[in-house]
Amino acid sequence: MNLSILAQIFQKNDGKLYIGDVCTEFDMSEVKIKEEEVKIEILRPFHMPLLSTFCSYEQELVDFLVEDALENQNQRLSLTFLWIYEGRVVSYITLLNDRINLKAAFQRQGIFYRSLPALKIGRLCVDDRFLHRGLGTLMVDFSIEAANSIFENYSGCRFIVLDAKQGKESPVPFYEKQRFKVLNVRKGTTPMCLDLLDNIKLSV
Ligand SMILES: CC(C)(COP(=O)(O)OP(=O)(O)OC[C@H]1O[C@@H](n2cnc3c(N)ncnc32)[C@H](O)[C@@H]1OP(=O)(O)O)[C@@H](O)C(=O)NCCC(=O)NCCS
Repeated sequence: MNLSILAQIFQKNDGKLYIGDVCTEFDMSEVKIKEEEVKIEILRPFHMPLLSTFCSYEQELVDFLVEDALENQNQRLSLTFLWIYEGRVVSYITLLNDRINLKAAFQRQGIFYRSLPALKIGRLCVDDRFLHRGLGTLMVDFSIEAANSIFENYSGCRFIVLDAKQGKESPVPFYEKQRFKVLNVRKGTTPMCLDLLDNIKLSV
């Protein structure tokens, strides 16, 4: 964090320099945002005016939020959660159900189903002005909590899956830091998954 100290220095009639008001300014751009400082709300029509200032270097993700997220929700295809900090929408995550097709590795673990249930991160985006302040990590943690809650209360859910888009900047290293693994390499997107049985945050 950068701290700037601003002081008013003035010269009196006696020719000496005096220090007047001293104030400090913190540059908050590097300070991590804490979970308790954020309000998480499901996207509703009354939020729409708040979205007009949302900006990201991934314009497609801004367009989805502004143009499609609510309609997808009305069709029960996905649910979008807005992260609101100091009255502004600073990030969002869109979740839906999915499944993962099994490979031979699981058969060695005694699992013989063709696919296993998963929660999918359909979209995840942080406003450009709030990058690197921990919001991406908080939203991934939120999806893990959601998957755990589904499993503890309603139905099976083994994985979190997503398709990392190869846009201007690859999000793959970010997801790898969150312990996601690359499933296979495709042109345009990289499918990734987090096995919740391996995840130390799993509370069951
Ligand atoms: C990828 C994204 C979600 C990261 O969000 P963020 O809030 O900046 O991430 P965090 O602050 O939680 O960063 C967590 C860690 O990942 C690292 N990180 C963040 N973005 C990264 C990137 N693109 N590449 C490599 N590392 C990255 C951070 O440096 C940080 O590391 P640290 O814990 O060692 O300090 C954000 O850059 C974004 O919204 N990008 C545009 C949209 C996008 O690509 N979404 C994913 C679509 S699939």
